[in-house]
Amino acid sequence: MSPERQTFDLVIAANRLPVDKVITDDGEIEWRRSPGGLVTAMESVMRTQPGAWVGWAGDSGEAPEPFDEDGIHLHPVALSAEEVRDYYEGFSNDTLWPIYHDVIVPATFHREWWAAYRAVNERFARAVAEVAAEGARVWVQDYQLQLVPALVRELRPDVRIGWFNHIPFPPVELFAQLPWRAQLLEGLLGADFLGFQRQADARNFVRACRQLLGAPTKRDLVTVEGQHRRVRAAAIPISVDFHGLEELAKRPDVMARAREIRASLGDPEVLMLGVDRLDYTKGIRHRLKAYEELLSERRLGPPEVTLVQVATPSRERVEAYRTLRNEIEQTVGRINGDLAKIGAPAVHYLHHSYPREEMAALFQAADVMLVTPLRDGMNLVAKEYVTCRHDLGGALVLSEFTGAWHELHQAFACNPHDIEGLKQTILRAINTPAKDKQRIMRALRRRVADHDVQRWAARYLAALDAAPEVPQPTAGGPSRSAEKPNPAAVQDSSHAAAQEPAPQEAGR
Ligand code: ADP
Ligand code: G6P
Repeated sequence: MSPERQTFDLVIAANRLPVDKVITDDGEIEWRRSPGGLVTAMESVMRTQPGAWVGWAGDSGEAPEPFDEDGIHLHPVALSAEEVRDYYEGFSNDTLWPIYHDVIVPATFHREWWAAYRAVNERFARAVAEVAAEGARVWVQDYQLQLVPALVRELRPDVRIGWFNHIPFPPVELFAQLPWRAQLLEGLLGADFLGFQRQADARNFVRACRQLLGAPTKRDLVTVEGQHRRVRAAAIPISVDFHGLEELAKRPDVMARAREIRASLGDPEVLMLGVDRLDYTKGIRHRLKAYEELLSERRLGPPEVTLVQVATPSRERVEAYRTLRNEIEQTVGRINGDLAKIGAPAVHYLHHSYPREEMAALFQAADVMLVTPLRDGMNLVAKEYVTCRHDLGGALVLSEFTGAWHELHQAFACNPHDIEGLKQTILRAINTPAKDKQRIMRALRRRVADHDVQRWAARYLAALDAAPEVPQPTAGGPSRSAEKPNPAAVQDSSHAAAQEPAPQEAGR
């Protein structure tokens, strides 16, 4: 550690910084908000407490000097163009992402991608070790940095290390395909506490340690043999900044913009909305198929009904994303070509990012929000939609394959693979009487208000503080007497957690 370097008691490491460096057409440097739910959530957590954020600035080449932005100390990590290709687009998003999302598209394995992943994780660990104060809390984020916990432990045994997975953790049958499965598990076991979106994800992790490493496990604890410690893996589902976003949505200019959006779409009777990164996990194709059939069967039709699909550009150099974009754009073209009327498109397709105000206005303008992923760790869009509906208007159609569904059971649930069922659910979301929809919306909002992102972070950090678990030196494996009450488990009285069975009792 260099003596002059500023150090912090809380350090988070995420692949991306909350802002992306963009070179404008005039050659100027501009910082723009980075895409994705991780940034949305972690930014609101970090704005309210002192800390450093270690991450990549979104372009290749030399890293900018560390700087402060809106109360957060940003510590950029450099990635070369080859590392962007091999570590970010390759291993993170063409190997891990498909494996962790039910192999919706096939995963690609390349040994050189793995080498880049390891090298970049080592760089992140060194950067964390530089900015962490003595005894700091280090909070590593997501699948891109799974080796960082063990690497930081080696460099800085004095710090407390947590990791949170924003995406699903796959069943062992899928995880086992990874040629580097043991290294990934060992990397994660360097942490003191591991957080997941759902109990099923935590269970999948514990089972993978038992079956693939032969590690002793008991309930949510994995023993790290040779290090005399145990690691807890528990579900702490992430959320949104309910009060901050609600306040924004209540602003008169935002509410006026919502009305303006509806007016500019011809004041339809039913405005449906989809908001997603353009990712094959989001079920955009399934949604469009259901909508197209409803239009063809004349059960819905413009101008009375219209759909706005906002699709944020994402990972555009990865083949599966390019293919998806082509398919979506062709489908939108076909639907409009076949089923729109002059001045009344059936689908308004917007391939852009928007400011938070515009997103809040769109949410308020929409009568039906379509959240139809085939697999999603959480889906913050679902929670943002209900947060913005302080008027109790609107209806949320929500896929059972999202983490959000485990908390938002009152939503109009759908299985996006079942196109006929999805069509029925969309019609139900449109036709349910307003009074019933208001009752549902009130319940959904209560859940998100009570479990907002500030509470999530507090629960996570309390669980991290309660770590590490030190097993009693008794023969025959881990001893129950070493277990401390875990704030995450104790507080997790949500029906989400309560509904899932406890992790399997261990046995080898
Ligand atoms: P993911 O993290 O997989 O992208 P989430 O639904 O959890 O999915 O989070 C997406 C985040 O990105 C939300 O905060 C959402 O409001 C934001 N977002 C999505 N699309 C856009 C867009 N076009 N412009 C601005 N923000 C967007
Ligand atoms: C998801 C991931 C994040 C990622 C985000 C955007 O939310 O969990 O780790 O940052 O998608 O993806 P990108 O590849 O653009 O960072």
